[in-house]
Amino acid sequence: MGVFNKFSFIFLVIFLSLSANAEVQRHRFVIQATKVKRLCKTHNTITVNGMFPGPTLEIKNGDTLEVQVVNKARYNVTIHWHGVRQMRTGWADGPEFVTQCPIRPGGSYTYRFTVQGQEGTLWWHAHSSWLRATVYGALIIRPREGKSYPFPKPKRETPILLGEWWDANPIDVVREATRTGAAPNVSDAYTINAQPGDLYKCSSKETTVVSVDSGETNLLRVINAALNQPLFFKVANHKLTVVGADASYTKPFTTSVLMLGPGQTTDVLIRGDQPPSRYYMAARAYQSAQNAPFDNTTTTAILEYKSASCAAKKCNAPTPIMPSLPAYNDTNTVTAFSQSFRSREKAEVPTDIDESLFFTIGLGLNNCPPNFRKRRCQGPNGTRFTASMNNVSFVLPRNFSLLQAHQQGIPGVFTTDFPANPPLKFDYTGNVSRSLFQPVPGTKLYKLKYGSRVQIVLQDTSIVTPENHPIHLHGYDFYIIAEGFGNFDPKRDTSKFNLVDPPMRNTVGVPVNGWAVIRFVADNPGVWILHCHLDVHISWGLAMAFLVDNGVGELQTIQPPPPDLPIC
Ligand code: C2O
Repeated sequence: MGVFNKFSFIFLVIFLSLSANAEVQRHRFVIQATKVKRLCKTHNTITVNGMFPGPTLEIKNGDTLEVQVVNKARYNVTIHWHGVRQMRTGWADGPEFVTQCPIRPGGSYTYRFTVQGQEGTLWWHAHSSWLRATVYGALIIRPREGKSYPFPKPKRETPILLGEWWDANPIDVVREATRTGAAPNVSDAYTINAQPGDLYKCSSKETTVVSVDSGETNLLRVINAALNQPLFFKVANHKLTVVGADASYTKPFTTSVLMLGPGQTTDVLIRGDQPPSRYYMAARAYQSAQNAPFDNTTTTAILEYKSASCAAKKCNAPTPIMPSLPAYNDTNTVTAFSQSFRSREKAEVPTDIDESLFFTIGLGLNNCPPNFRKRRCQGPNGTRFTASMNNVSFVLPRNFSLLQAHQQGIPGVFTTDFPANPPLKFDYTGNVSRSLFQPVPGTKLYKLKYGSRVQIVLQDTSIVTPENHPIHLHGYDFYIIAEGFGNFDPKRDTSKFNLVDPPMRNTVGVPVNGWAVIRFVADNPGVWILHCHLDVHISWGLAMAFLVDNGVGELQTIQPPPPDLPIC
């Protein structure tokens, strides 16, 4: 065998062993209005296949998904596979006007992609307007055949999807906010697996029950699918052992409370080691913004020991025991929790950085444009709410997706002058006047060479209000190498960088009035949006996008667009 042959033989063997048992799973998602009754009122809710929450997809690392999405609703729709790296398959990522035009009512599109090298819990959701309020579901990725979890195999596994419910049409809620410039109405309930639990008015039968038996372990795959609210999650009297987050394994650690920003997932083991009974699992808001209204209700599900169940007989089940949740503004608990994360596997953190970026993130207020009536400027003091990164308030194109415009060289759709640093340096977390920073609308991308090693300092600003922002990057996982409060100071804070075992995630909760530093290698060509996962903030423009060039050769080049890619 010549050198080349030997090499290709080895490659073939690796390829075969990797692809052994890899499957292609086909699904059909019909987007449709379905009658859903919650809190004693029925709404025409947009769902997938009439299910709420939508279907759970269960695959193995290395499998390919082929999901045909058929739009039978009256809204445009796209589906995003939140956290899936989409290596070279950016056309299947899903954010509307970023990687595709929306699927129009009556249209369809098949998302085809392979999940490789990610294990744990991800999820999927609509990525168009506020449809994800009800169009979402879990995506579970188990180890390849013959491989096991890096922790003792749990007896059961239960997805726990935290959500938000409006006693209204969520699309009307965001449309109203866009019209008036005011903050949108907050939700009427939180939900666990689409059920509010029995602490609400008129919800006594709307409770999710999770079983456990004495001595056995259940793996809870907790997903924050809420639109606009970071949430605390707790189970009465039970400890939770965190083993993964955002489909990356973590060094196990034990905690009594979780906090997840929208977009984040956390896998926890829970043992049935308490007296057989019924225990509430509960979630409610972590609210770091000041003077802002929020939904201050509590959603519950019931952890039920099988021997304490009354499902079979007709007995009076004991009232579940309620956990005591942290206060709404308990940032200390959030910090302690987020700083407990370490990657389980050896981290390959890029060290020699090619692109050192500094992005401010936060809200703003626009003065009322002269041609606007008063009723369109109902934000504080007759303004309109806005938001920005580095003072650019992100505007989506309307006639092309960014990826299509890039691929086909269509001019005038975007520019590549997104600033690497804020246009103005100031005391970001101090008492700053909003007039200092009036976000400017724009469709600005930041260009990255294939393979460049990127560091981004994400810096919260206190303009309008400081707030913990869950920042999500499409197409990548990144390492969170440090976080802190106040203004990031390279002299002081570089010493805090964890380059040994930092957690790998796709969504980072940037501390309120603080900063987080993330690193990744730009090895996935395409257009990838970076945005706050509070939908109200993305509606206001808290986003930007990276344009990652192709590298050399086919394996470093984005695939051609699928023939059925929706165009505008
Ligand atoms: Cu889960 Cu762009 O979002």
